[in-house]
Amino acid sequence: MTDKELLRLAREAAANAYSKYSGFSVGAALLAADGRVFTGCNIENSSYSLTICAERTAIFKAVSEGCTKFRAIAIVGGIDGVFSEPCCPCGACLQVMSEFCGDDFMIILTDGRYRLKDFLPKRFAL
Ligand code: THU
Repeated sequence: MTDKELLRLAREAAANAYSKYSGFSVGAALLAADGRVFTGCNIENSSYSLTICAERTAIFKAVSEGCTKFRAIAIVGGIDGVFSEPCCPCGACLQVMSEFCGDDFMIILTDGRYRLKDFLPKRFAL
């Protein structure tokens, strides 16, 4: 699975975003260690704080199916299907990634690849 293919799956997932309040659609494609890909989109709610990000949708889908080891996630976000600007994961999603992924987990954005440790050099853990 190339970065380009994973970004394409993230764009496809963004098409399902339920983002009627912000108008900002996000798609994520999570590559598991066993080669499976789990996609996710942001799902907003009229009670705004109940919104879930695309990255967490993808991770929770995977974990709920028994998959907890991951290699990479591709993320795209934008308005009206334009995903040219890189869409960085929010802090809440980074903390959820941190639960399941090591420092070398790759975060693939439209401007290149990063490591989880680039975004979250120190982590909260119990
Ligand atoms: N959003 C994500 O899906 N992922 C992020 O990492 C940051 C933000 C969503 C949440 C909300 O639906 C919209 O983007 C605007 O904040």
